[in-house]
Amino acid sequence: MTLQEQLNAYQARVENALENWMPEAGKEPEHLHAAMRYAVLGEGKRIRPVLVYASGEAFGVTPEALDACASAVEMIHAYSLVHDDLPAMDDDDLRRGRPTLHRQFDEATAILAGDALQALAFHVLAHDEKISVEAGQRVKMIDTLAMASGSLGMAGGQAIDLNSVGKNLNLHELENMHLHKTGALIRASVELGGLCSKDVDSDQFSQLSQYADCIGLAFQVHDDILDIESDTETLGKPQGSDLARNKPTYPNLLGLEGARETAQNLHAQALDCLRDFDDKADTLRMIADYIVQRNK
Ligand code: IPE
Ligand code: IPE
Ligand code: MG
Ligand code: MG
Ligand code: MG
Repeated sequence: MTLQEQLNAYQARVENALENWMPEAGKEPEHLHAAMRYAVLGEGKRIRPVLVYASGEAFGVTPEALDACASAVEMIHAYSLVHDDLPAMDDDDLRRGRPTLHRQFDEATAILAGDALQALAFHVLAHDEKISVEAGQRVKMIDTLAMASGSLGMAGGQAIDLNSVGKNLNLHELENMHLHKTGALIRASVELGGLCSKDVDSDQFSQLSQYADCIGLAFQVHDDILDIESDTETLGKPQGSDLARNKPTYPNLLGLEGARETAQNLHAQALDCLRDFDDKADTLRMIADYIVQRNK
């Protein structure tokens, strides 16, 4: 299977799983449920769920046992995008080719939809019956997602991002910001796939985590590059938003070429982390390629 076919298959799979977990549109409070569905369903590259499936695949876990983790990470991600776009944060009007949630609905609903999606993600992990590991491991999974989402993970990274507007960060500070705001959830996606297996040893787990850190950082470096090089229609979000809001980015610090080189180095490091894995990790390898080659 080519990566595109594999991506399509996993995207369709997680769409279905998400649909099953989301509250029905007609259920009270209808406005909030409609907003949650708007945030999650129908669009998005689904790269984090695909990572959950690919990481589980590397250990022979069935897709059925991975659906809950794939759905939960996408719910956290979708919530983070809804809040990221709010006027108090990046103040953007377009997301996934459509008006941002606070534009389509209103700001209060956007805040609540994010809150509710975050809660639902943890409900899914606590509740799903197809997760095939024992209770202690499930708690570890819940903790992995919690830590990746909170002040030491994504939310902390967003705080650093907002605090850095108009400042000149050095390379170490920029890397730290990216590893938190974007890297943490990507790392959790890969780790959750591994945690769904009963037989991942600690060496393999740490190699997986290192792979995830490399692609997580590469993902945000490439996102910064696309903000300059791509166009709004392809991206489905406003091109030039970082520049307009004076955000510190890799191209800003290193120039476009320097940023591209950084992404390529991280790609090579990511592949190197998988050197002891067999061909069951090929989807993980292809995702590393995709992350630095994608045009949206
Ligand atoms: C956008 O993430 C936010 C970043 C962390 C750069 P994605 O590029 O994965 O967005 P979707 O899910 O495809 O819309
Ligand atoms: C967003 O980073 C990271 C999170 C939502 C956690 P960006 O602000 O760069 O994402 P885009 O470019 O708006 O998608
Ligand atoms: Mg942002
Ligand atoms: Mg943004
Ligand atoms: Mg961006």
